[in-house]
Order: sequence, then C-alpha cells, then structure tokens
Amino acid sequence: MKIRKAIIPAAGLGTRFLPITKAVPKPMLPVFDKPNIQYIAEELRRAGVEEIVIVVGPDSEVIMRHFGEAPELEQRLLADNKQKLYEIEKETCSFNVKFVVQEEANGLAGAILCAEKYIGDEPFALLLGDELIYAKDDEQSCIERLIEIYENTGKSVIATMQVFGDDVSKYGNIGIGEEKDGVMQVSAIVEKPAVNEALSNYALIGRYVLAGGIMSKLKALKPRNNEIYLTDVLDEFAANGTLLATAFNGVRYDVGDKAGFIKANVEYALRSKEIGEEIKEYIKEKGKTL
Ligand code: G1P
Repeated sequence: MKIRKAIIPAAGLGTRFLPITKAVPKPMLPVFDKPNIQYIAEELRRAGVEEIVIVVGPDSEVIMRHFGEAPELEQRLLADNKQKLYEIEKETCSFNVKFVVQEEANGLAGAILCAEKYIGDEPFALLLGDELIYAKDDEQSCIERLIEIYENTGKSVIATMQVFGDDVSKYGNIGIGEEKDGVMQVSAIVEKPAVNEALSNYALIGRYVLAGGIMSKLKALKPRNNEIYLTDVLDEFAANGTLLATAFNGVRYDVGDKAGFIKANVEYALRSKEIGEEIKEYIKEKGKTL
C-alpha cells in the first residue's frame, strides 16, 4: 500500500530552550530562514506524502498561522512588487496540513493516537520534529528510502544510526538479525537502555514508516511513568518478524539540542545561495582566532 499520510509529533514543551520557548513553540525555532517544522513538511512533500498531521501542544496557534493563509501580508507584498517574497510566503500555505492538539504529555504513542481520526488504519510515516535530515536534491532521502522498503515488503521500518559509549542510552536501541541489501531484520527493541543492557550500537532515529492497524495496539498499551511507548508496540513487531531497519541516508541534525540547533543553522546558512559565501568567509576568518 502506498504511504499517503504522515504524522509529525510537535507538542514538546521545549524546556531545554527556555526562555525562547516560553512564548515560541519549539517547532517554530528558525533554522536559517524557516521554522524547523517547515523542513519536515518539505521532506514529506519531496517523498510524495500528501497529507500531514501535526500534533501540537496547547498554545501553538502560531504554528497553524505559519501554515495558513495571510491575505494582508500577501496583498502588501504584491503591492510592493516583492514577487519573490510573495512566492516564499505562498509556499508556506501550500502544504496539506491538519492539526490536532495533544492536551496531555503522555509520550510518543500518545501523540500518534491524537492523530487517529485522520490516519485511521492506514500505514503512515512518522517524523519526529526535533530531527532534521538533510539530503541533496539528487539523493534519495531517509524517509523516501523507508517508504520504498515498506512498499516492497509491507513491513514497518525504522531508520537507525550507530552510536557509541553513553549515547546508546539516549535513544531507542535495536537488536539486529539478518541483513540483506542494507535492510536489517529487527529482533528486539528497547527504549533508552543502560549502557550494559544495550542490544547493539544501533539507535533508532526519528523517522519511521508504520504498517496500518497500529492504533488499536497503541490503545492497548499500559502506561509506564504516565507515558505510553511506541517502542513497546515496535518490540511486538520485532518479536513476530515484522519490523525492519536501515541505516539512514543524509545528514542528521538534532535540533532539540542547543549545539545541534546551532550546527544546523550554520550548515543551512552555508548552503544558502543568498549568504552562503559570506558565512563561509566569516567562519574561515573566525577559525583563525579560535
Ligand atoms: C524518541 C524515541 C526514541 C528515539 C528518539 C530519536 O525519544 O522514543 O526511541 O531513539 O526519539 O530521537 P525522545 O528523543 O523523544 O525522548
């Protein structure tokens, strides 16, 4: 079955980024000249996913405004003959986005369940809002690869990367079975294990394609620490041989982390036609003084 829909959980409070996240929701923090959530919407468009459900926290109207029409601003840009800026603005309202509010901070599975009315029993892509994955225009992106694997096998599939030392405890962690053409069978999965309990050094990153019918399984989960964990259902899939994994393509930025956020800003600015050269020169000069 084709993947037509995606969920972006984006309801986190972003307390690590206080004070900016007091009034500005974390998905609206800019990476170069766009809020980080727009990059994820663009990643989905490029992969041919038509409908996006963004799960937001309470007080996130500004995210809805970002993806909505702005007639006064548009008229103003046209009247001032600012065609390029008009197109940039129009792009933001060209995505097919639905919003649902996650009232309770009850984990990733809780966020997915909030989107049930739009997803139903269809398979869907899941992209975590804190991670940007950059692929060049001529490269297959991470989510495109996951969709391809799902469409070929009908099995849920997750993106992984290798991590070392204490970092294994920051992520979902997978046990690996047979591997063929870069696609691995997942034998088990644990959420943020202690270093000595890790199954491998493969970590789950924030890109998934999940087979249809997962909602009823999520509803049946028992909460732990007031949260329900997607990982618990994925572990069931792993046990019955229906979970695959692949190393991700592209460059990953953890924009939920301060250093990752700054690195993403530097690198997206370096790629910009508008200011890339200027920033490159600046970094070279600055480098001499460090
Ligand atoms: C979530 C998932 C975790 C995954 C991580 C990737 O954790 O629960 O399995 O490895 O995203 O970033 P979070 O970072 O939201 O705590």
